[in-house]
Amino acid sequence: MKILVTGGAGFIGSHIVDALLNDGHEVRILDNLEKPTHQQGIPDYLSPEAEFMEGDVRRVEDLRKALDGIEIVFHEAATGGFTPNISTYIDSNILATARLLEVIRDERLPIKKIIVASSVGVYGEGKYNCPKHGIIFPHVRMEEQLKRRDWELRCPSCSLALKPLPTDEMTPVRPEKAYSVSKFSQERLVLSIGMELGIPAVALRYFLTYGPRQSLFNPYTGVCSIFSTMILNGMPPVIFEDGWQTRDFVFVEDVARANLLVMKDPRANFRVFNVGTGRATAISKVVEILSKAYKRKVQPRIGEQFRLGEVRHLVADITQIAQLGFAPQVPFEEGIRRYVDWISSQGNIHDYFTAVEEHLRGSGVIRSCQQ
Ligand SMILES: NC(=O)c1ccc[n+]([C@@H]2O[C@H](COP(=O)([O-])OP(=O)(O)OC[C@H]3O[C@@H](n4cnc5c(N)ncnc54)[C@H](O)[C@@H]3O)[C@@H](O)[C@H]2O)c1
Ligand SMILES: [Zn+2]
Repeated sequence: MKILVTGGAGFIGSHIVDALLNDGHEVRILDNLEKPTHQQGIPDYLSPEAEFMEGDVRRVEDLRKALDGIEIVFHEAATGGFTPNISTYIDSNILATARLLEVIRDERLPIKKIIVASSVGVYGEGKYNCPKHGIIFPHVRMEEQLKRRDWELRCPSCSLALKPLPTDEMTPVRPEKAYSVSKFSQERLVLSIGMELGIPAVALRYFLTYGPRQSLFNPYTGVCSIFSTMILNGMPPVIFEDGWQTRDFVFVEDVARANLLVMKDPRANFRVFNVGTGRATAISKVVEILSKAYKRKVQPRIGEQFRLGEVRHLVADITQIAQLGFAPQVPFEEGIRRYVDWISSQGNIHDYFTAVEEHLRGSGVIRSCQQ
C-alpha cells in the first residue's frame, strides 16, 4: 500500500511511519516541521526509507501533491497543547482537515481509508459515579472551587464526591478547550464526509501518549517531557493541583499499533475508538517514577497552581478496540525506562517550560490558589 502520514515527522506520526515501513508499506510524510516542536530541521529519527515532503496541511497545493498516488491517509498533523490560542487550532486542525477532504473529493482520489488522530480532550471530565445518583457526566470544575483547593468533582445534585469510572466512547463529548473542540470537529468531519464519499474512516481518541521522540522543545505539550526537562535542570517540577489527579498514559508504540490495527480491520470502519491502557496513574506518581529513573532527588512545587478547564481524572475504557484485538504491550514503568534512555541520549536538555510559565499565567491558562 502507498500511505500518507501527515505530521509524520512528529512524535506519534513518526512511530506510525516506522510501523508501516516494518509492515512493508510505501510511506510518504507531509510535515511542515512546525516550531517550537522541531528546532533542528528534519529530526534524525526519521527513517530515510520514507519519502519526506515538507509542506503544510493548510495549503491545498501541498495536499494535492502529497495525496498523489496515495491509498491510505493517517492524518496526524495538528497544533496541540495547552495554549491560549483559539484561531490557530481552528485553522491548523479543522480548516486543514476540511481542505484535505475537499481535495480528496474534488480530485476523485482513490483513497481506501482515512484514519484521523483525535484526542481524549473531547470528553471533558468523562464518566463518574455518584454514590446516590449513579452515573453522571459532570462539567469541569469552576475556578472558585479550584482556588479553595477543593479538587475532587462533586455531584451537582447532592455535592457528594464523585468516583471516576473508565470513560467509554458512548460518553457524551464535552470539549472544553479550543484544541479539543478542533479535535472533535476533525473526527466528525472525517467520519461524516468519509461516509458521504464512501471512504472508510476511523477516528482514534488517543489518551496521554508518551515515549521517545516526544518534542523536548515544545513547552506546551507532553507532561513527561516537561517534567523531564525540569528534573534534569535541577528545578522543582511544577505539579498543578495536589498531584492526585490521574491520567491514562499510553506508550507511543502501542498507539502506532492501534493505528495499524484499525487500518487493516474493516470492522473499525466509520467508528471511533479510545486508545489508552485502562490504567490510571497519578501525576505525582509520574514525577516520582521519573525522578527515580533519572536518579535525582526532587522537591516538586505542588498545590499552588491549577489550570482552568483541566480535568481531574480520565482513564480509558478500551473495550471497543480490545474487541479488534488491541492490547497495550508496554507497561508504564517499562515505557518510562525506554523514554528516559532516549532522553539520556539527547545531550544537554534545555528547560523551555519555565520561560513560558509567566506567559501562561499572564494569559490565564495557569492560575494560582488562594494563599
Ligand atoms: N501526544 C499526545 O498525547 C496526543 C494525545 C491526543 C491526541 N494527539 C494527536 O496526535 C497527533 C500527533 O500528535 P503528536 O503528539 O505526535 O504531536 P507532534 O507535534 O509531535 O506531531 C505533529 C506533527 O505535525 C506537524 N504539523 C503541525 N502542523 C502542521 C501543518 N499545518 N502542516 C503540516 N504538518 C504540521 C508538526 O511539525 C509535527 O511534526 C495530533 O493530531 C494530536 O492532536 C496527541
Ligand atoms: Zn449525587
